[in-house]
Order: sequence, then C-alpha cells, then structure tokens
Amino acid sequence: MQSGSCSADTVPVLRVRAAAARRRVLRAARHQGRAPDRRGHRGVSHSAQGYPDTPGIWTREQVEAWKPVVDAVHAKGGVFFCQIWHTGRASNYQFQPNGQAPVSSTDRPIAPKRSEDGLSVTTYPAPRRLAAEEIPAIVDDFRVAARNAMEAGFDGVEIHAAHGYLLDQFLKDGVNDRANDAYGGSLANRCRLALEVVAAVAGEVGAGRVGVRLSPYTEHMDATDSDPDALGGNMARELGRLGVLYLHAVEPRMVRPYERGETRHSLRPMRDAFGGTFVVAGGYTREDGDRAVAGGYADLVAFGRVFLANPDLPRRFQLGAPLNEYDRKTFYTADPVVGYTDYPFLDDLPK
Ligand SMILES: Cc1cc2nc3c(=O)[nH]c(=O)nc-3n(C[C@H](O)[C@H](O)[C@H](O)COP(=O)(O)O)c2cc1C
Repeated sequence: MQSGSCSADTVPVLRVRAAAARRRVLRAARHQGRAPDRRGHRGVSHSAQGYPDTPGIWTREQVEAWKPVVDAVHAKGGVFFCQIWHTGRASNYQFQPNGQAPVSSTDRPIAPKRSEDGLSVTTYPAPRRLAAEEIPAIVDDFRVAARNAMEAGFDGVEIHAAHGYLLDQFLKDGVNDRANDAYGGSLANRCRLALEVVAAVAGEVGAGRVGVRLSPYTEHMDATDSDPDALGGNMARELGRLGVLYLHAVEPRMVRPYERGETRHSLRPMRDAFGGTFVVAGGYTREDGDRAVAGGYADLVAFGRVFLANPDLPRRFQLGAPLNEYDRKTFYTADPVVGYTDYPFLDDLPK
C-alpha cells in the first residue's frame, strides 16, 4: 500500500494483488486452523492473530506459500516489504491457540467497537497480562518472522508498532498500566519492548532491511497516550540510533485511522529526532503529498485507501489523471472477494 509520492517507477507495496498466489496462502492459513486472509499485516505467531482473514509468516508452510506471491510482485518491478505484527489484546478467543485469552501489556480489555458499516459491535475479552519473563519469546517471534520473510524473498520487513496492536499497547500509557517491571511505568520502560523487537529483527536481517510504523497520536483500539509528542520523539530518536532503514509515521490528524481531523501536532519533531528516511501517511492527496516532500517535511508519502482503489496510482499521479473512488463498504470484506483486486486500471476505463 505504500508508494513514494508521485514518482516511483518501482512501487513499494505492502498489498498483494496476485490473487491466485494469495489463495494458496489462504489455504495454508486455513490448514493451520485459522481463518483466511485479506490484510497487509502478517502475524508473527499463532497468538498474534486477531482478525478473520489475516495471514501469517511463522510456519514453513506459510513461508513456502508466500514465495510465489513475492515473486509475482518482483516480476512487476515492485519492492516488497512484509509488515509483521502481533495484535495483542485486539484479538478474541477464537483466534487464539486453545481458545485462550489474548495477551497484552495489561489485563484491561478494549471497549466494544462498532463496525465500519455500523451494523455490528465487536467485543473484546479481558487479555492476560504478559509476565516480564514471557517477553523474550515475543521478541523472538518477531525475529523469526523477519527471518522467514527474508526466506520468502521479501526485500525487508516493516514492524507494526502502530494502531493499538501489541507493541503500541506497551508504548502507550493509556493502555500500559504495568507498574513494577522493566516494560511499564517510565517512558523508557514502555518503549523497551518495541525497541527490543526492532533490535532483534535488525540483528537478524540487518537494520537496512527494517522499517518501523508508529502512530503515537492515533487512538485506534483505545491506544491513547498522555504525551504523544514525548513518546513519538523518544521512539524516533532511539530508532535513529538503531539505524533502521525508515520510520513510517501516521499523521497526528488521524486520531482514528480512517478519518482526517485537525490537530495542533506535527510529525516534524519526530522526523528531526529520527534523522533518517521518514515516511508519512494518513489522509494524503497527491497535492499535499507533493508539498510535504518539497517542503522537507517527509521523504516519502504512503497512500492507503487511494492506492487500494487505484492499482496504477503512480501512473495516475504522473498523468494527473482522475482517481477511482474507494468504497468503504468493501474494506476488510472477505467473501466475496471484492474491493482489493478489482478496481479498474486507467486503461480499462471507457474512453
Ligand atoms: C482496507 C485497509 C487495510 C489496511 N491495512 C493496513 C495494514 O495492513 N497495516 C497498516 O499499518 N495499516 C493498514 N491500513 C491503514 C492504512 O495503512 C493507512 O494508515 C490509513 O488507510 C490512512 O491512510 P490513507 O488516508 O492514505 O488511507 C489499512 C487501511 C485500509 C483501508
């Protein structure tokens, strides 16, 4: 789903458009006793899963199933990073091994959430608070997933530390209520798990193949923080020290991931603190993406929904061509498969 603003001949993609190859991954996922897949992120372990239709990258079979998908993207000249995640408490019993409670930094659940279409409500169980002794195994799951991604042929991995999932559940003081161990309390302690994961993954595959996604300002899945400027700044500085390839930050205006609001905050301090390649995302158009890059606010702009709806987005940007509009109703739908691979290319449109 990511692209450099307006220019890229090679398009970094997180979204797979090779439907036939995807079906093989889905079959592998079903074989693991889990639901099939529709999203960009790949779970790092069996306990990482939290949604129907999400893929994984922790078994041999999954790695093999990814290979033709990755090959298909490379054959089109794409650069392909695999986003790896653990949903933590944004999960439910049916996604967990043996129907156990999901794990988190806390034992407090996410409040019930209404679906995009407003027609249903998802409730979340109380998670099990991870003991500090269990954390090295979580770090190791990310490391192994990154190794697997390399084996599957991906060009790199993006560590998902955003949007209220496990790493964000440790980062933010509105969720992380641990008082007495190395992973809670102070800002440094809350950042520890995410930074340990990044260091382990960078040690495994090389920092030059690692990106990190952060959303200190986004309150998705009840992941709030009392001082997101300090959180974002600290993470950015530490990631700069670790020398990762890029930092991908979600705009402060995206308090909810899919709604653009107004904010007094800016990503500029995070960019300055990081010092490396800085990717911004959230509510961008071609015009303000260009402005962000020209003004030195970002190196790259990631597009989500407009890329989903426009498979040839870079070309349309180059030509100044009109865009297909995205259809919210088809976000995250699994059956029938609509809204991911069937938006028309420019050349398909009636002249
Ligand atoms: C259908 C759909 C799937 C998404 N999948 C992911 C994902 O796998 N990982 C992620 O970090 N964000 C995901 N997002 C969020 C987008 O990356 C992005 O942050 C959000 O859409 C806001 O950017 P935009 O205004 O350019 O769409 C997804 C969004 C949509 C609509």
